[in-house]
Amino acid sequence: MCRICAAVFQADNVAPLLHAGLKRLEYGGYDSAGIATLHGGKLYIKKDKGKIDEIHQALNLDDLPGSIGIAHTRWATHGAPSKVNAHPHTDCKGEIAVVHNGIIENFLELKQELENLRHVFISRTDTEVIPHLIEEYYKRTNNFREACFQALRRLQGTFAIAILSRYAKDMIVVARKGSPLLLGIGNGFNFAASDAIAFLDKTKTSIPLEDGDIAFLSSSSYEIYRIEDATPVKRKTITIDWDLQQASKEGYEHFMLKEIMEQPYTMRLSLGAQKQYVDLLAEFMEKSSKNFLVAAGTSYHSCVAASYLYSRLANLATIPVIASEFIEQYGNAIDVNTTILFVSQSGETYDVINAADFARKKACTVLGICNVIGSTLTRMVRAYVHQQSGPEIGVAATKTYTSQLIIHLLLSISLAKKRGKISQSEMDDIKETINELPSLAEQILISKQKEMLEVSKLIMNKNHVFFLARGMNYATALEGRLKLLEIAYIPSTAYPAGESKHGPISLIEEGVPVIFIAPNDETRKLLIGNIMEMKARKATIITLGEEGDSELMQLSDHYIAMPRMLPIITPILYIMPLQLLAYYTAVNKGLDPDKPRNLAKSVTVL
Ligand code: G6P
Repeated sequence: MCRICAAVFQADNVAPLLHAGLKRLEYGGYDSAGIATLHGGKLYIKKDKGKIDEIHQALNLDDLPGSIGIAHTRWATHGAPSKVNAHPHTDCKGEIAVVHNGIIENFLELKQELENLRHVFISRTDTEVIPHLIEEYYKRTNNFREACFQALRRLQGTFAIAILSRYAKDMIVVARKGSPLLLGIGNGFNFAASDAIAFLDKTKTSIPLEDGDIAFLSSSSYEIYRIEDATPVKRKTITIDWDLQQASKEGYEHFMLKEIMEQPYTMRLSLGAQKQYVDLLAEFMEKSSKNFLVAAGTSYHSCVAASYLYSRLANLATIPVIASEFIEQYGNAIDVNTTILFVSQSGETYDVINAADFARKKACTVLGICNVIGSTLTRMVRAYVHQQSGPEIGVAATKTYTSQLIIHLLLSISLAKKRGKISQSEMDDIKETINELPSLAEQILISKQKEMLEVSKLIMNKNHVFFLARGMNYATALEGRLKLLEIAYIPSTAYPAGESKHGPISLIEEGVPVIFIAPNDETRKLLIGNIMEMKARKATIITLGEEGDSELMQLSDHYIAMPRMLPIITPILYIMPLQLLAYYTAVNKGLDPDKPRNLAKSVTVL
């Protein structure tokens, strides 16, 4: 889950540009970082453990000389965060430098082989085998390109790599298998990076590499080949439709807060999702005899909410499944009559891609909802809907979640129409409601900021927080809990309220906060019973419910009043106060909500 970036310019000093690119990639890994440049036939490297700013302060990353370089921000998988384990890694003579995102599965075997050939390793990483392997093949072939081909063919596992060497003076070599990598094509320069955000200020013209591609970049040209047999290939050029301003904090203290607050805007964009693709997805799902919704993390929670929506509006059964479990759980039960909708903000989550690949081989219809055009998922699926949330930098997903819910809602409406399950008057109500979403979101965000700051004080020192709900807001409980747990580090539990008697209630004692998501729908009455049970055990009751609901208000220690709305949109709007709650709790505890420990924005390794 590291991120890499590489650039080759004609004359400009490349180090500050790589440093700026790395800063924008820091969401993908932030336990160590490093840059290597090539100048006058010599490699220069600066790297260390810590955040990029700390490393820059100590080492000044910008004064590395040269117009060609590679860079890396790390999230440790093999070997603890340390200077020696930080990338770039080099060969024995320090003449080949490599940065890598992914995992080399056969590294122990390769390391042994290379050590037998007297290569000396200094780190505990899997990556270090790559420069040594290239060194070894260079010794044998005296041809640097050939050495790269031969070395890469030996690697098992996943990689996005960039290679810099004094044996190839004006060129960077990049390659990918299973980890994201895009070229950024400019006039007089070329980039490669795990995410286009690294080069968006320089160019919006990009080429996503395919698995098994290797590319040779100079400042004025690029060539792409297949690693396996060195055949030249052409790849599609795309234009990135984000700009850097969309990826900056715009005056907010953290990306997470900026991204929470911009939801009214991103909701509008998602509501404008291209109807023909929504209808196309609906058509595949409608024809299919089995439908699965597969995703990880927050995207999975959108699938949980969606399974209620598809059933409720379109009478269609869909099974939400966690991506990493999918093959074990349903692998033998899927076939040509199965449709699987994969949902992934990044389109790069390893478990999602792995499951999609498996499903394709089983001849299933593979569909997607994704935020990144050109990502691996969008290139694997039969059809996808672009959720249009813009770049999300905060590690904890916020605006991309509400966008995914909107796409699911549009899809469920399209399905309902196709299946004739919805009356004209219901349809009119829903249309009206949907159009109100952005303004309701605005109203909630403005009115709830201060209130959630106060509520955060009620929970910030607690040892455990519970989130309970019924129906589709069970997904809201799951997502509210995930936000709190991942950025404020408070152990939290989310349960369908009806199930809480089967275990979690044993943890309830005086003062334990229990957050109920209780909109004015058919779940409300039953939830009142659950609130009474928790109250009887002296829990602190915090309830999100409709404004003016005096019964719920009386039962609650703190009542978060939400505007009136149709039940089907409650998951989209009721999550927002909980996003704010997690944010303020983290900030009150002095934590950085944008960079929660041990987490990465997209998990591109097994
Ligand atoms: C990581 C991120 C989460 C995200 C999940 C799935 O765990 O920290 O925010 O929900 O990956 O990512 P995806 O890009 O597939 O939606």
